[in-house]
Amino acid sequence: MNQLDWSSRPGRPLRGSVRIPGDKSVSHRALMLAAIAEGDSHIHGFLEGEDTRATAAVLTQLGVRIETPATGERLVHGVGLHGLRGTPQVLDCGNAGTGMRLLAGLLAGQAFDSVLVGDASLSQRPMRRVTDPLARMGARIDTREGLPPLRVHGGQSLRGIRYELPVASAQVKSALLLAGLYAVGDTEIIEPHPTRDYTERMLAAFGWPIQFSPGVARLAGGHVLHANDVQVPADFSSAAFFLVAASIVPGSELRLPAVGLNPRRTGLLHALRLMGADIAIEQPRESGGEPVGDLVVRHAPLHGIELPAALVPDMIDEFPALFIAAAVASGRTVVRGAAELRVKESDRIASMATGLRALGAAIEETPDGAIIDGGRLGAGRVETHLDHRIAMSFAVAGLVAAGPVRISDCAHVATSFPGFLELANGCGFALQRAD
Ligand code: S3P
Repeated sequence: MNQLDWSSRPGRPLRGSVRIPGDKSVSHRALMLAAIAEGDSHIHGFLEGEDTRATAAVLTQLGVRIETPATGERLVHGVGLHGLRGTPQVLDCGNAGTGMRLLAGLLAGQAFDSVLVGDASLSQRPMRRVTDPLARMGARIDTREGLPPLRVHGGQSLRGIRYELPVASAQVKSALLLAGLYAVGDTEIIEPHPTRDYTERMLAAFGWPIQFSPGVARLAGGHVLHANDVQVPADFSSAAFFLVAASIVPGSELRLPAVGLNPRRTGLLHALRLMGADIAIEQPRESGGEPVGDLVVRHAPLHGIELPAALVPDMIDEFPALFIAAAVASGRTVVRGAAELRVKESDRIASMATGLRALGAAIEETPDGAIIDGGRLGAGRVETHLDHRIAMSFAVAGLVAAGPVRISDCAHVATSFPGFLELANGCGFALQRAD
């Protein structure tokens, strides 16, 4: 991949309506469940990102026919629970932790061996959190000292377990539930804090008996998934950059239609409101079994907060954007209890602290968070560390910096938000490719 740098500088007040692409978490799950369902499933609003396309390519390698009737749509010809076919080729999950961890669960119960690989960033992400409990279910998965590639040995008989997750992780929960489809007996997962429940909701929508409530999910093996149509909402995590951008640029007013508002995803909305943001939810409704609404965000002066720890898991992907808001808010923001940020696509506490300091911000890293004293941002050069959300966050920072913010290596934005640059510029950003 050629290095792609961006330069972001103050534009005009942000105005208009921004159509945010489909949800990454929902798109991954829709592909996987549709693949092992009986019959044809139509996915609408599918995220055309590199992460979700990588999952589609893996499923194709495993013998699933997936058609693209139009951009943002997939027609998946399900092969049934036992219809996947092995391949001697490696299965490349690209940058996607969700893809790799969920596929590990799905592949653990197959009759064939498989090898899951990822890019430089994914190859550094911890996998024992998923391979250890899968091993307790009877799976055999080799890692490179806890890191990818994952060698999944097929032909194991899985049994259900009761597992209390040591860290809140929807990816681990989902991997175990997917393995549980192939297990004898009950698989029960208990979370230390409820996480996004898309797998549970979607399994139910595909007709698999499952009991779940916030923090607990239980299912038994031996049922059938029936094809279903899935409507993917706009991704709240992608909307997050525009929520922060419009909040901090004077004169802004943006509308973000049909954004997914699953309560396990909207922690940033509450955090920004606590900071003084003006964000309204218009026409709250249900779409495809998920709460959605049109978000309307207007500029408002922000002030620092002590972030309530209970919000952390509900905004785990939104901290890079929150750090930008905190860096330009008045007063101090304190984040604690967010050590998971250190094992995302990059170490997001370190990536944000280094980048913000390069722009003159006052930020102190702590093992599980940061202390940020808001003020003015200056010009500077920042690194993304191959992390899409770091790139987009600093594009937002450039809107209010005293001079241009040069962002090195932004190609990974395409993993979750293809077309970000064009959409952003369309509503008032001044974001350029820089050579
Ligand atoms: C995701 C779960 C979260 C999140 C990731 C997507 C999912 O990861 O950070 O972007 O789709 O289940 P963890 O499960 O590691 O917290």
